[in-house]
Amino acid sequence: METKKVLILGIDGYIGWALALRLGKKGHEVYGIDNLITRVQAMEVGGDSAFPLPSVEERRNIFKEYIGPIDFIVNDITKPYVLRDYISKIKPDAIIHFAEQRTAPYSMIDEEHAIYTMHNNIEGTIRLIYAVKDNPEIHVLKMGTMGEYGTPNYDIPESPYVKFEYKGKSDMVPVPKFAGSWYHWTKVHDSHNLLFANKVWGITITDINQGPVYGTRTTDMLDGDSIIEGLRTRIDVDEAWGTVVNRNAVRAVLGLPLLVYGKGGQTRGFISLEDSVNALEILINNPPKEGEFRVVNQFMELYSVEKIATLIADATEELFGYRPKIHYVRNPRIEKEEHYYNPERKILPDLGYKQKRFLKDEIYSILTDLYQYKDRLKNFSEWTNVKTDWKNGRNDKNRFDLIKEL
Ligand SMILES: NC(=O)c1ccc[n+]([C@@H]2O[C@H](COP(=O)([O-])OP(=O)(O)OC[C@H]3O[C@@H](n4cnc5c(N)ncnc54)[C@H](O)[C@@H]3O)[C@@H](O)[C@H]2O)c1
Repeated sequence: METKKVLILGIDGYIGWALALRLGKKGHEVYGIDNLITRVQAMEVGGDSAFPLPSVEERRNIFKEYIGPIDFIVNDITKPYVLRDYISKIKPDAIIHFAEQRTAPYSMIDEEHAIYTMHNNIEGTIRLIYAVKDNPEIHVLKMGTMGEYGTPNYDIPESPYVKFEYKGKSDMVPVPKFAGSWYHWTKVHDSHNLLFANKVWGITITDINQGPVYGTRTTDMLDGDSIIEGLRTRIDVDEAWGTVVNRNAVRAVLGLPLLVYGKGGQTRGFISLEDSVNALEILINNPPKEGEFRVVNQFMELYSVEKIATLIADATEELFGYRPKIHYVRNPRIEKEEHYYNPERKILPDLGYKQKRFLKDEIYSILTDLYQYKDRLKNFSEWTNVKTDWKNGRNDKNRFDLIKEL
């Protein structure tokens, strides 16, 4: 297999670090940029990575010890020239863009958080577009979300365009999307901006719509059966930053009731961290044609939120001998709780991708890994009271000062 030079934007994050390990292990050259903002923003709402995160210096050293060479720089991709200079220096074959504010509840806290999310995410993508616009040989992979589509009453295609008919006439238009938070809308705007950039400059793009990711480990973090602690990736588990499986798994470990919003019928396409990095490596190894805009729906299993809570409760009972209660709470989000959901998924299977991990099995390693850090998790200050309500936001506004100081 041909090895590639890959630049990971957001390399310090949950998926970015796991992908760096995977690519490094497979012999690809790994480069990364991160401004470490998730480390700060998770603390802003009382959270933190469930596993202690090494410093950047420690991360570089441990990567070099176990995996291979890496160049990981700390910088903000929204700043002028940061991407342009770095890209012209290293000349990557592929750039994967994770470097965005990635939580819906955080973006819905208040006006300042909405503005920050819009600015950070859209501006970073525009900087990336301008940094590569004369280089269609560079493959840009933008990590978006299945949440861009909302829950439409039609099959979600894996294509940038769809035929639209009105008053007897028709044309191809961008696939309609109706996102459910400011964060998700930034991803829609990113997709549209990239589609436009592809039309104007012929940039080669894979626009990935990924479902919520779960999991505490990938095989690259293991030495035999034991995990190498310093290789662990960050994992967020609080109400604002934790995705539904990861945050309810911590609640189970702490003996807290699992929270299901509304009736829990909301269905989404989930993917394990292991499958996410496997699939990304396949997409990097198999780029679209130069100048093509490829859309990939990247998820493996459909689950309702209620079903996830039941799986977690079953596994907790089996592992630890107690069964967490399931609490149905008022849904803070504005979303349908019962709906049709049928996204297409052809590109990854056509490239030979097969699912490796299943939630019903992976939940055991998640609970076991988190249990090891039970005392640390107990100390996170705001387990149960950091909530953002879509209509009312969050009351405690002064916390944004932390971000302003950066
Ligand atoms: N985790 C999921 O379930 C999931 C699902 C679908 C899509 N995604 C998308 O995948 C990407 C990665 O998600 P994640 O869970 O690893 O998030 P994460 O917050 O752990 O990682 C994102 C990284 O980007 C960095 N970053 C943010 N803004 C930056 C900037 N302006 N300059 C430099 N670095 C910056 C952060 O410090 C962080 O390390 C995000 O774009 C997210 O929207 C995540």
